[in-house]
Amino acid sequence: MKPHAMSCLCHRQNHLKTIPNLLSLCVIILSFLALLHFSYRHVLFQLSFYACSNPSSSSLASANSSSSAIATAAATAIGPPGVGGANSTSGANATAECDIFRGEWVPDPEGPYYTNVTCTMIQDHQNCMRFGRPDREFLQWRWKPEGCELPRFDPHRFLELARGKSMAFVGDSLARNHMQSLLCLLSGVAYPDDISNTRDENRRLFYSDYNFTVSIFWSPFLIKGGAAGGVDNLWNLYLDEVDDNWAARVQAVDILIISSGTWFTRPSIYFKKRQPFGCNYCAQSPNLTRVSVYSVNRAAFRSAFKAIGKLRGFRGVTVLRTVSPSHFENGKWDQGGSCNRTRPARREETRLEAVELEMYRAQVKEFERARREWERRGLQLKMMDATAAMLMRPDGHPDVYGHRPEQRVQLHNDCVHWCLPGPIDLWNDLLLQMLSN
Ligand SMILES: *[C@@H]1O[C@H](CO)[C@@H](O)[C@H](O)[C@H]1NC(C)=O
Ligand SMILES: *[C@@H]1O[C@H](CO)[C@@H](O)[C@H](O)[C@H]1NC(C)=O
Ligand SMILES: *[C@@H]1O[C@H](CO)[C@@H](O)[C@H](O)[C@H]1NC(C)=O
Ligand SMILES: *[C@@H]1O[C@H](CO)[C@@H](O)[C@H](O)[C@H]1NC(C)=O
Ligand SMILES: *[C@@H]1O[C@H](CO)[C@@H](O)[C@H](O)[C@H]1NC(C)=O
Ligand SMILES: *[C@@H]1O[C@H](CO)[C@@H](O)[C@H](O)[C@H]1NC(C)=O
Ligand SMILES: *[C@@H]1O[C@H](CO)[C@@H](O)[C@H](O)[C@H]1NC(C)=O
Repeated sequence: MKPHAMSCLCHRQNHLKTIPNLLSLCVIILSFLALLHFSYRHVLFQLSFYACSNPSSSSLASANSSSSAIATAAATAIGPPGVGGANSTSGANATAECDIFRGEWVPDPEGPYYTNVTCTMIQDHQNCMRFGRPDREFLQWRWKPEGCELPRFDPHRFLELARGKSMAFVGDSLARNHMQSLLCLLSGVAYPDDISNTRDENRRLFYSDYNFTVSIFWSPFLIKGGAAGGVDNLWNLYLDEVDDNWAARVQAVDILIISSGTWFTRPSIYFKKRQPFGCNYCAQSPNLTRVSVYSVNRAAFRSAFKAIGKLRGFRGVTVLRTVSPSHFENGKWDQGGSCNRTRPARREETRLEAVELEMYRAQVKEFERARREWERRGLQLKMMDATAAMLMRPDGHPDVYGHRPEQRVQLHNDCVHWCLPGPIDLWNDLLLQMLSN
């Protein structure tokens, strides 16, 4: 194993009201590459195990100054605006008028819809039941939008819709988490063949009966970035240059799902036109201006949308999945923070942590900007506004059940990724609904 990446995710204050003592959280992520069997045929996945550490407080200046005001003003305003008192028609199926991203988690005694036995594609890191998670209640909730019902994922319907098409996920390990949830939800009907022609994190899976291809492109920042190393383990991020690992390869994709977030809290130097102009979590670079995660995230998504918009002949629908919140409680990631709840939270009990709120707002802003422009050109852009729903699931992370108890991993309590089966199966309920409309 070799550390190849570092990151810092900083939670400045307690924004989950139900969660006392959610202290500042700083994550420096050491990714370890481990080739693990992804247990189906020859599918191999390189896993990144996340490790965290606490950057010096001086490096947090920008995060604290820019985020606290936003958080106070808008923490409760996450998610789309309300549907204006229309909660009488709750039996109806979702329609264009119903806001499927605003609602609550309600008991679902029928869940879960797959297990680690019926789906052999859950990677260890998310296979919480394998590592002895004792409670089952977290598997028995479904998302209930205000004013309508969100139909449960129907694998046959999905595959018919996807017939002859290609889909690509672009992002970090949470994009992979999302894809694996989809593969498991489909596993009752079909298993894919791995037709990847590389051995790295970029995978290509093919459902031959449906002529349907699913790919994943590893691109945690969406933009071009490289590890610069040094004392701060800095990354060089080129805000105005898209990462060609994905952008040069998605021209023919029919359904493109992009997401990003966590990695933007790594110590980084930012470049525009190849010139360094700012940095974050960078105590060793006194001469560079601190730049907020908000503006960096905006710039990155702007570059990503711009690159997609410029793809010659691109006819796909692009889906932005908004930032996925983490849920460390009672300490930082590396100081005993954990996430051992067994039930969802209610909407009024939750608040998005400051840095994640910055990312959320940046992503929504750039989405709106791109959509206005794309509409004129007939390009389809949709937002899977799942942040609010996931914020209510502090119970859905692996915590200590992402590895054997004696195994030493960097992110010992994983409150970033999600158990499978688990709450993020919702992302595919939402995806099918969004693609059906
Ligand atoms: C931000 O941190 C500085 C010290 O680093 C402190 O003086 C200041 O009060 C903090 N601001 C807020 C809004 O928390
Ligand atoms: C919506 O339903 C909730 C309870 O489910 C109720 O408290 C609330 O008053 C209802 N709102 C309207 C506008 O009917
Ligand atoms: C909602 O959709 C399901 C299947 O998608 C269907 O069985 C059901 O009848 C629908 N309900 C209503 C009220 O239209
Ligand atoms: C599946 O989960 C069970 C616990 O529910 C566990 O005993 C078993 O080892 C797991 N199997 C696999 C293949 O992960
Ligand atoms: C399979 O789908 C691709 C597009 O993804 C299409 O070009 C090709 O013709 C299809 N093949 C068959 C046999 O339908
Ligand atoms: C920072 O700026 C000062 C004064 O402009 C200069 O003396 C110093 O060498 C610079 N440091 C770095 C690391 O560029
Ligand atoms: C959950 O974790 C907290 C510390 O983070 C601990 O005090 C508590 O006992 C744990 N609860 C369970 C049920 O393990």
